[in-house]
Amino acid sequence: MIIAIDGPAASGKGTLGQRLATHYGLRHLDTGLIYRAVARTMLDSGHALDDVAHAVAAAKSLDPARFNDALKDQRTGEAASIISAIPEVRAALLAFQRDFAATPPGAVLDGRDIGTVIAPQAEVKIFVTAAPQERARRRAAELRARGEPVDDAALLADIIKRDQRDSTRAIAPLRPAPDAHLLDTTTLDIDAAVKAAIALVERTRRR
Ligand code: C5P
Repeated sequence: MIIAIDGPAASGKGTLGQRLATHYGLRHLDTGLIYRAVARTMLDSGHALDDVAHAVAAAKSLDPARFNDALKDQRTGEAASIISAIPEVRAALLAFQRDFAATPPGAVLDGRDIGTVIAPQAEVKIFVTAAPQERARRRAAELRARGEPVDDAALLADIIKRDQRDSTRAIAPLRPAPDAHLLDTTTLDIDAAVKAAIALVERTRRR
């Protein structure tokens, strides 16, 4: 089984994906980490984020060992949003994600274009949303827990800017697949969101 979870920044899709994967015994891929890893390589090497040749080279030499929570800072997220709008970068990352999805026993992938581009054949597609203020509040709590300084107003502005960039770009924009189930988690904690997502999966599988 493949479960595709898409949604905007800090909507909770990563945690949801992880929990669903554990529940169903599937593998999990947070595809945001892939774009963040490429972005971090560009930042560390000092190349401009619109340097297509270097961004593609970074995408092609992707090291999954680098996909970890150290990439979850604001600066890397913002840079990831910029390099992810480059069609050649997305093309270079396609096979890795599709291979991951196709490997038995199946997988939960979360990102922006899983249900629309990476795995349109996924049995279950969930589009997770939450109000921008709530997403900013969650991201602020996460950053504070890691000891990072937080500017609440800047964080909300960053989330709104990233939503705008991700949903209006020409290639693989953030949008629900026509057959995706919408899950608004604004008033749900993570346990309630997981319960609602499992109910969606079960309902879809029964059909
Ligand atoms: O989900 P996360 O915030 O970690 O993603 C970082 C950035 O990577 C997003 O803002 C988005 O621009 C990009 N991304 C993407 N496609 C995906 C996953 C992430 O374009 N499947």
